Amino acid sequence: MKEQLRNIEEKARDAISSVTDLRALDDLRVSLLGKKGELTAILKQMGKLSAEERPAMGQLANRVRATLEQLLSEKNAALHSAAQAARLGAERVDITMPGKRPAAGRLHPLQIVENEVKEIFLGMGFSVVDGPEVEYDYYNFEALNLPPDHPARDTQDTFYITDNILLRTQTSSVQVHVMENQKPPIRVISPGRVYRSDAVDATHSPLFHQVEGLVVDKGITMADLKGTLEMLMRRLYGDDCKIRLRPHHFPFTEPSAEVDVMCFACHGAGCRMCKGEGYIELLGAGMVHPKVLEGCGIDSSIYSGFAFGLGLERIVMRRYNISDMRLLFENDMRFLEQFR
Ligand code: PHE
Repeated sequence: MKEQLRNIEEKARDAISSVTDLRALDDLRVSLLGKKGELTAILKQMGKLSAEERPAMGQLANRVRATLEQLLSEKNAALHSAAQAARLGAERVDITMPGKRPAAGRLHPLQIVENEVKEIFLGMGFSVVDGPEVEYDYYNFEALNLPPDHPARDTQDTFYITDNILLRTQTSSVQVHVMENQKPPIRVISPGRVYRSDAVDATHSPLFHQVEGLVVDKGITMADLKGTLEMLMRRLYGDDCKIRLRPHHFPFTEPSAEVDVMCFACHGAGCRMCKGEGYIELLGAGMVHPKVLEGCGIDSSIYSGFAFGLGLERIVMRRYNISDMRLLFENDMRFLEQFR
């Protein structure tokens, strides 16, 4: 029996030292010390021993049991810390490695230029106002001195929602909202989307953007209009930029002008970019028609004003040398990523 116990201890030492994972160690523990284990089997035979032999043998058996328990628990601790070390090693983070750059969005070129235009006008004491894109006929046409039979109301150009509700065709509608709600002095710009039933091509889109400007005060003249627009264009295109006013007609301004900006490619000489003109048309403008002022409750014998409406797409296309307007609306990331 003594032999058997020694044997068990020997075998167990080898087995425990060669175990490499916790599950195998647990199986081993059960097979050594469990109810059906080898040691238990031997202890059950103690009854067969004589009274003299029994205490010594009992002692030996207990010692072997204690030894095995000790070895098992040491091994258990060793395997645990090895497993932990392995996990920490695997999870180690190299804090010197360069991080992944989060994919940041960019501003759309239209937004970049709109922000710039806003900054320029804020610097001149203007405030920025917003107006509805779904609009009453009254604000888009009638209050702007466009009578019901005016060709601009043609369903060819205007998206009508009902007989008297439409998608605004110009930001000039905001002029009327502003003058209804605010008395002079008025100095506002209003950037936003406008809609016209145009077929899509390189220079047309049924949705485009305008920036409306409106100044109403005592003694406002055409010189204020020209000075303001000159300042805008110089800030946008550089100090040597020149503008030119050509007589034109808008129902809601009198006199009216179309404003051209000197071609940057040829500086006025005439080239392919400006189709030989030397200048490029950028916006419509004029002195606010007295009828429009009066319609909004502003006394036109005391106050005068100027207004302008510029197409944002044109400015963006000139600025970045973009030849096809569709590029601005297709939202191809390869295109949009180029702008800052
Ligand atoms: N609303 C006009 C257009 O869309 C532009 C304009 C605005 C003209 C203000 C004069 C004054 O063509």
